[in-house]
Amino acid sequence: MKGAIFYASKYGSTAQYAKWISEATGLPVFDVKSEYADPMNYDFLVLGSPILYYKLLNRRWIESHWSKIKNKPMILFSVSGAGAGNKLDGWISNSDLPLSFTLKVKHVALKGRQIPEELSFYDRVMLRIAAMKNPDPQASKEEREGFDYMDKNSIEPVVKLIQELQSKKVEKASLSADKIITKAGSILKS
Ligand SMILES: Cc1cc2nc3c(=O)[nH]c(=O)nc-3n(C[C@H](O)[C@H](O)[C@H](O)COP(=O)(O)O)c2cc1C
Repeated sequence: MKGAIFYASKYGSTAQYAKWISEATGLPVFDVKSEYADPMNYDFLVLGSPILYYKLLNRRWIESHWSKIKNKPMILFSVSGAGAGNKLDGWISNSDLPLSFTLKVKHVALKGRQIPEELSFYDRVMLRIAAMKNPDPQASKEEREGFDYMDKNSIEPVVKLIQELQSKKVEKASLSADKIITKAGSILKS
């Protein structure tokens, strides 16, 4: 099976993870905004997206491609400030995605980066407001002051899941080769 990585990113950290995963696995990598990003050319998909404003940034892309991609194996790596946990699970299930996506996708949570000086004026103001309302002191501080949890080693679970799919490819290919041989044998006999 042939796979590819399709990522959405606003400030570059998800793009960075996508490139690291591509380097580690040899999979091609596409920004979902690119005209060359066609998931139909691949057997399995690795989707990367940050959480922005409590939702996955790539939710519209998933929704608009869903009817065509729903039968493909999929891995999702999310990039957020919160990281793995109930809050993140809630935001993913509130991202207005098809239920079958949420149920089938294999999800790995990665932690990203937020540099206040790099943010748009709107995002900076919104995060300041969110920080004032946030009852969690650590999360509130990070919303105000930013953070950098980028870690190349944290892609390892994503790489492992990809390698599992890549090894299935061999099984599938040899299985279909077996089927062809069996069929050819029965044609020759008849
Ligand atoms: C405007 C904005 C909203 C964000 N909202 C959330 C959020 O709801 N939950 C969270 O855990 N992290 C949130 N973050 C942190 C991002 O997920 C994190 O900075 C991520 O690395 C950004 O990915 P990107 O660089 O690929 O755009 C937010 C960041 C920004 C700039």
